[in-house]
Amino acid sequence: MASLTIRKLDEGVKTYLRLRSAKNRRSVEEEVRVILRELIEGREEPLAAPAPQQPASSPPATPQRAGALAEASVTLIIGGGIAAYKSLDLIRRLKERRIEVRCVLTKAAQHFVTPLTASALSHERVYTDLFDPQSEFDAGHIRLARDCDLIVVAPATADLMAKMAGGHADDLASAILLATNRKILLAPAMNPLMWSNAATRRNVAQLQRDGVILVGPNAGEMAEAGEAGTGRMAEAIEIAAAADRLLRPPVPRPLAGKRVLITAGPTHEPIDPVRYIANRSSGKQGFAIAAAAQAAGAEVVLVSGPVDLDDPAGVAVKHVESARQMLEQVEASLPVDIAIFAAAVADWRVASEGAQKLKKTAAGMPPLQLVENPDILATISKLKDKRPPLVIGFAAETEHLLDNASAKLTRKGCDWIVANDVSPATGVMGGDRNTVHLLTRKDGAIDVDSWPVMTKDQVAIELVAHIARSLAGKPLETTS
Ligand SMILES: Cc1cc2nc3c(=O)[nH]c(=O)nc-3n(C[C@H](O)[C@H](O)[C@H](O)COP(=O)(O)O)c2cc1C
Repeated sequence: MASLTIRKLDEGVKTYLRLRSAKNRRSVEEEVRVILRELIEGREEPLAAPAPQQPASSPPATPQRAGALAEASVTLIIGGGIAAYKSLDLIRRLKERRIEVRCVLTKAAQHFVTPLTASALSHERVYTDLFDPQSEFDAGHIRLARDCDLIVVAPATADLMAKMAGGHADDLASAILLATNRKILLAPAMNPLMWSNAATRRNVAQLQRDGVILVGPNAGEMAEAGEAGTGRMAEAIEIAAAADRLLRPPVPRPLAGKRVLITAGPTHEPIDPVRYIANRSSGKQGFAIAAAAQAAGAEVVLVSGPVDLDDPAGVAVKHVESARQMLEQVEASLPVDIAIFAAAVADWRVASEGAQKLKKTAAGMPPLQLVENPDILATISKLKDKRPPLVIGFAAETEHLLDNASAKLTRKGCDWIVANDVSPATGVMGGDRNTVHLLTRKDGAIDVDSWPVMTKDQVAIELVAHIARSLAGKPLETTS
């Protein structure tokens, strides 16, 4: 089966996957698997033409995936030690966690447990032989090494660890361990004297340098009568938990506990009941920031002008039309820790909105008297009581970008400005990409950090990462 390199996907797809996986607290690979499974389970046509019938006794020629609900997969290598019986429980524990298991038994392991038992518990074919013509016609050992998310060796015998440290590949287990590019988790199990032997110490140290991860061994009574010490294999539940941690590392949530307010989109300033003044803002940048902040663990309130976008999942969205409504909802959402004003708020509105649709008259065009709208960024930046600790404004300019943005930072009293060139040639207004400069205050001066052209999703992720770094590091240099 072909493998998929996430690194090589389109930037937009990668960003979508990153956001979706962060939201669902899964690794990106797991998320891809879930998406594919949803797709396959949702389709109506049969999955594939029926495969040619194999004799009942003949197992599939190459490793096959089973378990439609599995979210990750493990190749479990069972070594030849007394603790091999505990690996049968490990199969069950892994499967409980929706981890698909394919077992490989060493020759010695088959003295302790049978391939039939491992196969019955894993619901998969079990592999034992490097020179098996059924699975090696297309290098099955390489598939076992790579068509999984993690390799677990339990029990990891002194012999298997010595082979790994020495780079041997003279049986199926050691060949898989040498050919893999997946993480390897070892659960050593052996007599305490074997564990403390200088050769085993050297091998363990070498394996740890090679990046192999160990769980256990634990101290306690050994199977051999009267023997105790360090060498007992970790319990199945401990090994399953260690595997789970490696397969599903906790997603960092640097904005957990923070309340973030974001404005997005244009505002519509009514002329009469059917006409309005607007601008070309799509709201995409603000919505992307809301999704990124939510994925980073923040409680997010999004105040949005009229846009043609779906509400981001997990975000409280307040829909408004005009600048005055936007200010009202922004004020009602305080207090917040961080406020990001990405909306393109109309500077002016019509002084007196017509109660009825304005009609053409012989007297010509009706005069449209404009008055200034409230300045939401300046109003919130200058609050005495509920001013958010970090206020970030956006400066959308068509000329003298950095000069205008620097002046805006000083004039409005906010802490940071994200400046972007929105002249028509850039395609930023309504488009999916953005080129921004982040203006912050450093040692009393304005510091400009210019970012390369990115998708709006990437700009959002970068801005959230910047905020998270600032919160984690030295106190923010703000106006307040
Ligand atoms: C009854 C019995 C129990 C054994 N238990 C262990 C053990 O717990 N750990 C270990 O490293 N070796 C143990 N051995 C030795 C291994 O089975 C032996 O080194 C074998 O070659 C390991 O093969 P493998 O690493 O390919 O599985 C045991 C041997 C016997 C006969």
